[in-house]
Amino acid sequence: MPVVTFPVAGRDNCVVVAGIPYVYATVAGRGFVMRARCPHRGGPLHLAAPTADAVRLVCPWHEMKTSVARLRAEIPAVRVGGTVTAVFPDRPAARGTDPAAEGEAGVRREHRTLAPELAARCPL
Ligand code: FES
Repeated sequence: MPVVTFPVAGRDNCVVVAGIPYVYATVAGRGFVMRARCPHRGGPLHLAAPTADAVRLVCPWHEMKTSVARLRAEIPAVRVGGTVTAVFPDRPAARGTDPAAEGEAGVRREHRTLAPELAARCPL
């Protein structure tokens, strides 16, 4: 189980574990680490908009709704200031992942711009 500390915003705000990207997002004032890949067909869940009641995220590709509670429960994480430490599941590498491009323990970092509604609003 990779344990990774990464920034909640800005450069390297996305951790890719076994080919699956994760970001820190905020919905209804509560932050959590979530998969940035839609369970439907891999759309950019980090660009999703919350529903009016903030219970689900609406994927921008085909408008499938994903439960925020389910996303929130998937990755245990603790935020301290501008960083968050998360425990990611062990998974086989996603299809199309190049193991040579992955860093230690299959983890790599990159930047993903979040939808404005998901971006961390708390002071860093
Ligand atoms: S890829 Fe997200 S709804 Fe289809």
